[in-house]
Amino acid sequence: MPQIDAAWAALAKAADAARDRRIAGLFDAEPHRLSRLGVAAAGLDLDLSKQPWSLADLDAALRLARAAGVEAARDALLAGEIVNRSEGRPALHPALRAPPGADFHAAGQPVSADVDATRAAMAAFAADIASGRRKGATSQPFTAILHIGIGGSDLGPRLVWEALKPLDPTIDLRFVANVDPAELAQALVGLDPARTLVVTVSKTFTTQETLTNAEAARAWLRAALGPASDSHLVAVSASPDKARAFGVPSDQVFAFWDWVGGRYSMWSAVGLSCAIALGFDAFERMLAGAAAMDAHFREAPLETNAPVLLALAHLFNRDGLRRPLRAVVPYAQRLRLFAPFLQQLEMESNGKRVSASGGPIAHGSAASVFGDAGTNGQHAFFQLLHQGTDVIPVDIVAVRQAREGDPAAQRKLLANAVAQAEALMVGRPEAEVRAELEGQGLPAARIAELAPQRTFPGDRPTCFILLDRLDPQTLGALIALYEHKTFVEGVIWGINSFDQWGVELGKTLAVRVLAELEGGAAGAHDPSTAALIGKLTS
Ligand code: F6P
Repeated sequence: MPQIDAAWAALAKAADAARDRRIAGLFDAEPHRLSRLGVAAAGLDLDLSKQPWSLADLDAALRLARAAGVEAARDALLAGEIVNRSEGRPALHPALRAPPGADFHAAGQPVSADVDATRAAMAAFAADIASGRRKGATSQPFTAILHIGIGGSDLGPRLVWEALKPLDPTIDLRFVANVDPAELAQALVGLDPARTLVVTVSKTFTTQETLTNAEAARAWLRAALGPASDSHLVAVSASPDKARAFGVPSDQVFAFWDWVGGRYSMWSAVGLSCAIALGFDAFERMLAGAAAMDAHFREAPLETNAPVLLALAHLFNRDGLRRPLRAVVPYAQRLRLFAPFLQQLEMESNGKRVSASGGPIAHGSAASVFGDAGTNGQHAFFQLLHQGTDVIPVDIVAVRQAREGDPAAQRKLLANAVAQAEALMVGRPEAEVRAELEGQGLPAARIAELAPQRTFPGDRPTCFILLDRLDPQTLGALIALYEHKTFVEGVIWGINSFDQWGVELGKTLAVRVLAELEGGAAGAHDPSTAALIGKLTS
C-alpha cells in the first residue's frame, strides 16, 4: 500500500477508536496532553486538548501530514512556486506582509521591490488623505470612504475595520459588496460626495457586482460635483489598465498581482481603505502579526506548528469522524465577521471534489463553516451544538483583555467562552439529571420524560484560541493562522486551494438570464427556471 494510503487508513482506524471514548478521560490517561496539545504562536495561544484525538492519534495525523508532503508543499508555497496549477500561478501572499527589503520570488521573478514600492505609495496616499493635503474636487478634505468590492475584495477589509476601528472614527468607512441596490442606497445615506473617496477594489476589474456599484457611485459623484469628481475615484486591481479606462486617475490606481489569490489579498493594496482609516501604522502592525505567523509556519516542526495542528484537528473531525460542519464562535463582538471571512477562505479554497491533478478526492474536503459572535450564538444555534443529533466541532476565539467597555462585562464574556467549551466536552450525564429531578420530588413518569431532554451527551470538541488583546498584530496572526491551516488541509486532500472554478457556472448563467430579464429572446432552460423567468418578465 502506498505510504499516503497507509497513513489515511491509520487515521481512519484511530478515529474509529476515538468514537468510543470520552475526551475528558484522556486527561488522566495522558499526563502530557495539555502541553502537547497547547501551542503558542505569534501571540496566539491554541488549546487543542478538548479534541477527540489521543496523543497517539495525533501522531497518526502527523504521519499523514508528512506522507502528504506538507513540509515540501509549505516550502514550495513560500518559495513562490506555481502551487496554483490550474491557473499556472504561485500564491505568494506571505510576500505581501514581509518586512521591507525581503527577497520573495514568484515563479522565479523577484517581487519584493514591487511590494515595497506599492506599500510606500499606499503609505504616502494614506498620509495625504489623513492630513487633508489631498483634497476633493471642491477643495474639501476627505472624511468618508466608500469601499466597493466583493468576496476577497471585501470580506478581509470589512473584518479588519470591524475588529480595529476606533469608537469614534475620523474617517467614516463604509462597505458595499452586494449588487442588491439596497446596500449602496443604505451606504450613501448621509454621505457628502464632496468629502467622499470611492475606493473600488477588484482583482479582475470585471466583477459584475463591483462594476455595477462602482458605476453607480461614480454617477452619484458626478451628479453632485461634475466630471472633476473623478479625482474622488481610487482603484485597487491586478488589472490596473481596466481601472484607468474606468476613469480612475493614474496616480490613484494601486496594483496588486496575479500571484495573489483574491481571498488572500487583504495584505496588499486591497487593504488601502483600512490603511487610510486606521492609519498606516496600524496596517503595518497587522502585516507584522501575519509575518510572525508566516515565520512560525515556516520554521516550527510539524509537532508544534499551529496552522498544521489546527488543520489536523479539523481534519480528524472532518475525515476521521465524518463531521462535515464546523462552527466558529469568536467571543468578541469585534470579530463577528470572522465566520463570513472564513466561509470564503475555507469553502472557496477547499470546497472541491477533485484533486489538483483532476482525479476524484477519496475523502471529504472542506467542512461547511458557520458562526456568530459569542455570546449571541449561544441564544441561537448552541442548542443544536449541545444536544443536536450531529456532532459539530467548534472553534472558539477569546480575547483576554477588553479594548473598551466595562471589565466586569468582559469577565462575563470570558466566563461564557470557557464554560461553553467545558459544557460541550463534559456534558451532563443522565444519572446526574435523574438524581436532581428525584431530589425535587418529581414523579417517575415525569422524570422519565424530562431526564433525557436535560441530558447533555458531551464529547463535542472545541479548538480554543486565546488572544491577549485584539490588536493589529494579533488580528494579522489570527487570519494568517487560518490561511495556512486552510492550505495545509488542501495539501493533505490533494486540492489546489487557490482556484475557484465552482463560482463560474452561476456567473455565466446569470449573464444569460439577465439578457432575458432585459427583454432578450427566451433561452433554453429547464421548466422550473423557464417558469421563474416567466414570472419575472410578465
Ligand atoms: O467569488 C469569486 C471571486 O472570484 C472571488 O474569488 C473573488 O474574491 C471575488 O470573486 C471578487 O473578485 P474580484 O476581486 O476580481 O472583483
